[in-house]
Amino acid sequence: MEASPIPQPRRRKAETFAPELHEVWAALYARQLPNVQRYACRAYQEGLDVLGLPADRIPTLAELNARITPPTGWRAVRTTVRYSDAVPWYHHFARRQFLITDYMRSWEELDFTPEPDMFHDIFGHLPFMALPDYTALQEMFAPAFLRADDARREDIKRLAWFSTEFGLIREDGEIKVFGAGLISSFGEIHNVVSGGVPLLPFTLENVLRHDKAIYSFNSTLFVIESLDALKAELARYFDAV
Ligand SMILES: [Fe+2]
Repeated sequence: MEASPIPQPRRRKAETFAPELHEVWAALYARQLPNVQRYACRAYQEGLDVLGLPADRIPTLAELNARITPPTGWRAVRTTVRYSDAVPWYHHFARRQFLITDYMRSWEELDFTPEPDMFHDIFGHLPFMALPDYTALQEMFAPAFLRADDARREDIKRLAWFSTEFGLIREDGEIKVFGAGLISSFGEIHNVVSGGVPLLPFTLENVLRHDKAIYSFNSTLFVIESLDALKAELARYFDAV
């Protein structure tokens, strides 16, 4: 898996998606917006304001990048790969390219999809990617990953999974959702906010002894105290790689 070639994003003359895919986007957006307004962290809300996603259709790359690239230097790039392997993913990351899959979940998977789809990539991740404080966090991962050995690469994937994908953050004494995987999942966000998941502080020692849950909800999640505290904790690991 680690040796796969870097997929080259397919260039499109125009981004054309079937009308039904726009309808799935609109349904997901309408269901998840009230949840993120209530449960997502401040950074996400701020990024969502910057990004200004359309409610009724899939946004174009040009629209997204007009909001993302000027503040952060990052660029959203389309890929036809449904689930990118970590190595090519981090090669794109090192070039400040955030891959967005062409795949959209089906009507049967509105609540939860094990495969990250374009709703996850765009709605879950891209608001954050318009914020320089947050992209500075993302920029810590690729250099460490690309120089790490296989065992450490597994650790780094786990640290990303439990922070940028499924992390929680404490804000004014309240637990808010930080990870894009929670933000884009109606089912899992409800499971977490209803107290269905044990929470531990995000420390290397806690996170590295837990496995990622890809085909089910996560059985334990981790709470960061702030973006800076997360960066400091990750640096403790990355500096030693
Ligand atoms: Fe993700």
